[in-house]
Amino acid sequence: MITGALGGIGRVTAVRLAGAGHVVFAADRPADDLKAFAAQHPGVRPVILHVTDAASIDKAREQVGAQTAGYGLDVLVNAAGILVLGPATAVPDAQARTQFEVNLFGALAVTRAFLSAMRERGNGRVINVSSILGRFALPGSGVYSASKFALEALSDALRIELAPFGVRVVLVQPGVIDTPLHQRAAAALPGYDQALQPYRPAWPAGFEFLERLLKAATPADGIAATLVKAALAPPRARYQRGLRNRINTQLLTTLPTQSSDRIKTRIAGLATPPRPPLLVPMTLGRSRGSVPASSSSPARAALEGGVVILARRLCRPAAWRGCPVPPGTGAPASLARALWMSAPTCRSPAQLRPIFGGARRADDAAPRERYERQATAATARRGKGRCR
Ligand SMILES: NC(=O)c1ccc[n+]([C@@H]2O[C@H](COP(=O)([O-])OP(=O)(O)OC[C@H]3O[C@@H](n4cnc5c(N)ncnc54)[C@H](OP(=O)(O)O)[C@@H]3O)[C@@H](O)[C@H]2O)c1
Repeated sequence: MITGALGGIGRVTAVRLAGAGHVVFAADRPADDLKAFAAQHPGVRPVILHVTDAASIDKAREQVGAQTAGYGLDVLVNAAGILVLGPATAVPDAQARTQFEVNLFGALAVTRAFLSAMRERGNGRVINVSSILGRFALPGSGVYSASKFALEALSDALRIELAPFGVRVVLVQPGVIDTPLHQRAAAALPGYDQALQPYRPAWPAGFEFLERLLKAATPADGIAATLVKAALAPPRARYQRGLRNRINTQLLTTLPTQSSDRIKTRIAGLATPPRPPLLVPMTLGRSRGSVPASSSSPARAALEGGVVILARRLCRPAAWRGCPVPPGTGAPASLARALWMSAPTCRSPAQLRPIFGGARRADDAAPRERYERQATAATARRGKGRCR
């Protein structure tokens, strides 16, 4: 049985399995479309099934039981699914819950309903259609990813729990497939347009980025072939089709977070956030001037500061005589403070703030004030040439 059998992936899979001579219960919602589908394809039997409706699931189980003389299913493919688009906090609560109701709880409820016959027989197979977005999350489809991550976790546990009963649990992770899933998701966006408004400036290309990805989408045929393989061949725990999908998944799950975030930002069409205007004053040898830090990270800035200080100490130790010792306790902070002290371009303690921001801890405040006083004095001394 295939849930979501009238959808892009479910339909092709049902046709392939029926074509190979198997009896396929095509489970979906619209009764007339199901009948028409079954009429076109001998071997396909229509089952009306709402995966979020317990009564409908019970009815479907009874129907399958009656048509198989109580045998039940050999293979259950949980392919029914929806996609909710939009930045996670802009997605209305109802849609976010529906996302999970269909993609996660629906699959669990249908599995539970059809499992008992498999368990009693000591064999059977449950194939959960996840997604590569069940391995990594992209901005704009976080709620969908969350549901697929959850489905992955559930399947990982089920695989082990059901193994003693001879029931195999398999995950199939399609990439971007050309099906109506994306159009349906994009069509729902105007329904919560107001919540999306604050995010619009950051998404110049719009939230329909999956639509753009569709340009590289593959036809449902390929993933249907994988599903057939997962249904009939000795199963692996996971199937992912296509070198591109495998590389993307490998990259985005193993790269350092900062790097993968940058890639995801680009994929999703998000405007790159501007770096905070952090200026690290630098003086090397006799050169003077204020240059932008190559990194907005305070730790990196401190490191750069440390290098500058070291260079100054080595080159011009006399320049340090008479300068107050910064009161920082943590190494990076004290280095950065020392850097500020050493910078002739820093004219006032106010320039300390863009570098360090506010005091990190409440007990930082007093040393900072003291330091600002010292810094003012140092600036004055600098003016008199005592501390260059
Ligand atoms: N297309 C992709 O790029 C892609 C990528 C990765 C993973 N997937 C996954 O592959 C699966 C199939 O997706 P698809 O691309 O074939 O999408 P699709 O063409 O939109 O098909 C989804 C099917 O699920 C059915 N469905 C939705 N809610 C249901 C409910 N409450 N009860 C019963 N059936 C319900 C839909 O039926 P109705 O017509 O009645 O709504 C539809 O037939 C989904 O789990 C999806 O997350 C798709």
